[in-house]
Amino acid sequence: MKTIVIIPAAGSGKRFLSETPKQFLKINGIDILVHTILKFQKSKNVDKIVVAVNKDFIEKVENLVKKYRLTKVVKVVEGGKERQDSVYSALKSIKAEPSDLICVHDAVRPLISSKEIDELIDFATKKKAVIAAKKAIDTVKTGYNFVEGTLDREKIWLVETPQIFTYKILSEAFEKAYEDKFYGTDESSLVERLGVKVYFYQVKGENRKITVKEDLSFARIFLK
Ligand code: CTP
Ligand code: MG
Repeated sequence: MKTIVIIPAAGSGKRFLSETPKQFLKINGIDILVHTILKFQKSKNVDKIVVAVNKDFIEKVENLVKKYRLTKVVKVVEGGKERQDSVYSALKSIKAEPSDLICVHDAVRPLISSKEIDELIDFATKKKAVIAAKKAIDTVKTGYNFVEGTLDREKIWLVETPQIFTYKILSEAFEKAYEDKFYGTDESSLVERLGVKVYFYQVKGENRKITVKEDLSFARIFLK
């Protein structure tokens, strides 16, 4: 059984407001995308990595792969309009066995540790469908302008990546999503539609997504 990682890195970072897409901004002189790939390069459980980027950045990423000796990166593919399209583009480029694991991780989450990646993959080997998440810390309420209700915090999870599924499950989920013209903001929402049981893996360490400027400041301090 092999583990193949897909890294969607084809976004333009609308919320971040910088000329360069945020995955190509630097922390300690190294592109955020490279920081992220290195975490998987160092994981003992990862066999191959496929990166999806905007067409204009394919050559740049291929050069980064050489420069930083990211030997597990086997392909740099063109991404798509939505994050889901980018992941699908990478998925379609992969040849895998049904039981192989496909692990999807945002290019802009460089803080995760290789140790937690290993633990996540070990857990996914047993469960077949696993997503990284954190339990809600604050009390969670619903409603627009006034309170409709209070949710049971024990059941509220804030979902991150990695999200890991067998190749069989993820391929079926994507095929069905496109058949139904369904778009989700993560892989799990596609898999859930198949009725497959998806397990939470409670992330212990830092795994913040770089969305706005403050996140980059935090990441720079964290990675020092
Ligand atoms: N992504 C992608 N292809 C897209 C859109 C997003 O591969 N068409 C990737 C991003 O590059 C990022 C990850 O999906 O690594 C998570 O997305 P997000 O944080 O939303 O990044 P952006 O879409 O670039 O930012 P924004 O939503 O603010 O525009
Ligand atoms: Mg986005």
